[in-house]
Amino acid sequence: MRKVVLAYSGGLDTSVAVAWLRETLAVEVVTLTVDVGGGSLRDGVADRAISAGASRAYVVDARRRFVEDFCWPALQADAVYQGAYPLATALARPLIAQLLVEIAQREGADAVAHGCTGKGNDQVRFDVAVKALDPTLEVVAPMRVGMGLSRDEEIDYARERGIDVPVTHASPYSVDVNIWGRSIETGVLEDPWAAPPADVYQWTAPGHAPATPTEVTIGFEGGIPTSLDGSPVDPVALVERLNSVAGQHGVGRIDHVEDRLVGIKSREIYEAPAAVVLHAAHRALEGLTLSKEQLRFNRVIADELAQSTYDGLWFSALHRDLRGYVASAQRVVGGDVRVRLDHGTAAIVGRRSDASLYDRALATYDQGDLFDHASAVGFIAIFGLPLRTEAARQGSAWRWTKPLLAELPVEVTDGAQVPEPTTAS
Ligand code: ARG
Repeated sequence: MRKVVLAYSGGLDTSVAVAWLRETLAVEVVTLTVDVGGGSLRDGVADRAISAGASRAYVVDARRRFVEDFCWPALQADAVYQGAYPLATALARPLIAQLLVEIAQREGADAVAHGCTGKGNDQVRFDVAVKALDPTLEVVAPMRVGMGLSRDEEIDYARERGIDVPVTHASPYSVDVNIWGRSIETGVLEDPWAAPPADVYQWTAPGHAPATPTEVTIGFEGGIPTSLDGSPVDPVALVERLNSVAGQHGVGRIDHVEDRLVGIKSREIYEAPAAVVLHAAHRALEGLTLSKEQLRFNRVIADELAQSTYDGLWFSALHRDLRGYVASAQRVVGGDVRVRLDHGTAAIVGRRSDASLYDRALATYDQGDLFDHASAVGFIAIFGLPLRTEAARQGSAWRWTKPLLAELPVEVTDGAQVPEPTTAS
C-alpha cells in the first residue's frame, strides 16, 4: 500500500487517523472532506488535514447532489427505517464512498480509509459501497485495526505531533450531521429509559417554540418537492428553510431504539425537521394521487428500500431497480400540500393535485352526489359472496364468536306499543 484516501471530517478522530496511517502503514495520506450540509463542513478543515500530515486535502461541496440523488429518491419511496428514522446518516454514506473511490482513482491510490468503529453500521456502508464501485481498492479503518485511543490519548498524540487539534468541548455524545438530519448517540442516551437531556437538541426548538402555528405550502412534481409557499426553491435551500422553520416549532425530534445491522439494538436520537415534514407531506399527496393498490404495494417497496439503504446496499442491483420503479410510479405525484407546524407537530391540513383521484361528486353526502347507490346492492352481493359461501359450507361465524349482549350492561326503555293491526271488517 502506498497511497490512501481518507474520509476526513476534521474532528479529532480523523485528524489522529491521518498521522496514524502515515506512521503505522508508512503511506501517503490524501484527505477528502465532503460537505453534505447541515454544518458538516468545519472551518479550516483543509489546513487541519495538512497540519496532521496529509499530502493533499480535498473539500467537496456535494450538498445539491446529496439532496437530489440520495434524499429525494428516499423521499419518493417513503423510505423511513423501522417507521422512525429518515436515514440521514445512511443516505450520505454511499455518496461519500463514491467520492472516496473517484478521488482514489484520480490520485492513483490503492486504498481508501474511514474513521468508523467496528461496532456500527457506517463501517459496513463504506466498505460495501467502495467494493461495489471498485473491487480493487483496499479499505482501511484505523479505529477497527489498532488505533484504539481514548480521547485524552488522542489529544496527546495530536499535540506531540503538532497537529492542530480542533477546539471543541468534549461532547458527551457521538453526533453525525448532514442536511437531512442530525444523528446523536452514546453517553446518557445509552439508557433507553433516560429522557434525552436538552443539550442533545440543536435544530429543534432551540429557544421557545412560537406561540402561534406557521403554515407552509409545499409543492411537489413527480414526488419531488420543488416549491415553498408558491415560489420555486432550489433543493438545498428548500431543505434548509424547512429545517429552520419546522425546527423552530420543535418538529422533527425522533427517539428511537433501532436495530443495527451488526445485531445490536441501540438508542438513537434524531433531529430531522425537513425530512419529517416532507415525508408527511409526500405521503399525503400520494394518498390523493395513487390508487389503493399502488399505496399498499409501495409500502413493501418502502420497507425494502429503507432496510437496504440502512444496510449499506445502495449500489446493489435490487436497490437500483427498486429506485427505478419508484421514480416511474411517482410521475403523478404532483400538487400542493399544506402543513401546519405547531409545538412539535406537523399536521397536514390540505392537499390538492391536478392528478387527484379524489372526486368530490363521488365522495359527497350533499347535493350533486353522482355515486350510484342502487348499484351498491349488487356490488355487495358479489363482494360478500365468499363469506356467505363459508357460512353455508363451514358454519356461520356465530359458532366461534363470543356473545356481547349477555356480558354487557344493557338499559332497556319501553315506548308506545305497536298497535294491533286493524282488520278490515
Ligand atoms: N444509527 C444511525 C445510522 O446507523 C446513525 C449513526 C450516526 N453516527 C453517529 N456517530 N452518531 O444510520
